[in-house]
Amino acid sequence: MKPHPRTARTTEIPPVWAPSTLAEARRTLAEAAARFSDTPRMDAERLLAAWLQRPRAWVLAHPEAPFPPRLVPRWRAARARLRLGEPLAYLLREWPCYDRTFTLSPAVLIPRPETEALIVRALELLRYRPQPRVVDVGTGSGCIAVVLAAHYPEARVTGVDRSRAALTIARANAQRHRTRVQWVQTDLLAGVPGPWDLIVANLPYIPTAELAELRVARQEPWLALDGGVDGLIPLRRLLAQARRALAPGGHLLAEVGAAQAQQARSLAKAFFPQATISLHPDGAGRPRVLEIALPSDV
Ligand SMILES: C[S@@+](CC[C@H](N)C(=O)[O-])C[C@H]1O[C@@H](n2cnc3c(N)ncnc32)[C@H](O)[C@@H]1O
Repeated sequence: MKPHPRTARTTEIPPVWAPSTLAEARRTLAEAAARFSDTPRMDAERLLAAWLQRPRAWVLAHPEAPFPPRLVPRWRAARARLRLGEPLAYLLREWPCYDRTFTLSPAVLIPRPETEALIVRALELLRYRPQPRVVDVGTGSGCIAVVLAAHYPEARVTGVDRSRAALTIARANAQRHRTRVQWVQTDLLAGVPGPWDLIVANLPYIPTAELAELRVARQEPWLALDGGVDGLIPLRRLLAQARRALAPGGHLLAEVGAAQAQQARSLAKAFFPQATISLHPDGAGRPRVLEIALPSDV
């Protein structure tokens, strides 16, 4: 009997290529990252280090080590996501801020180095305050609130965000770092009227029209970035609410865009004519942190 034409020849399925060494995995991940990242090789090394639970230096020192077959599906997915320009932080699902690492999801902004200037100033202000009442407005991943609560466990720290998904991540970060923070889903200070000794806020400050042109708008939550027509709408609303919420002798710290810093200072002066207003620079020397210091006899 003649063989059936369909079974006569075995169909050759070409094997799907996968890296067999760390060097191959690193090269292919870096190629995938190259279109959108300024640091594609380092991104590839960080991914491999995270997957292998080794330091990045180890990955660099062992290019001929076999690439574990169990990681091939992850490698494949990561290559596709990097090619689409997804930020490395979301692939790693965590990112450092100040002195610790925070769990992330695409529901929250990736913490930026500029925010560390705000954290440094907040830590200075809390040094001499027993049991301060602190609120972090627009907490996102919770990075600011959690760092403050970790350094000052006696502080009563609250973190607020309009996004429920962000608060889920913030809560996970408080647990991860064994800190006590109260989380509230609300619009700015609406649900947490205070009084507060310290209000910290890294609210969205990119003007809407500008944001629409930026790649970051397609990668990170719009709600975390959109500052309205002039980028200062959330800050203006916060300052209006803070007039009633800030305790005498209290401080408000807000991250602002460098280009808006002088306008933000004028706004602060208009809302708090009796306060001392200052601007603090970020690590690159640009004015990025607005400080309002209320006298204790208001
Ligand atoms: C620029 S992100 C900052 C996140 C985090 N604090 C950080 O520094 O990485 C701003 C955050 O403010 C939140 N947000 C925006 N508008 C808000 C509002 N009206 N009330 C409360 N949270 C708001 C966003 O959901 C987002 O998580």
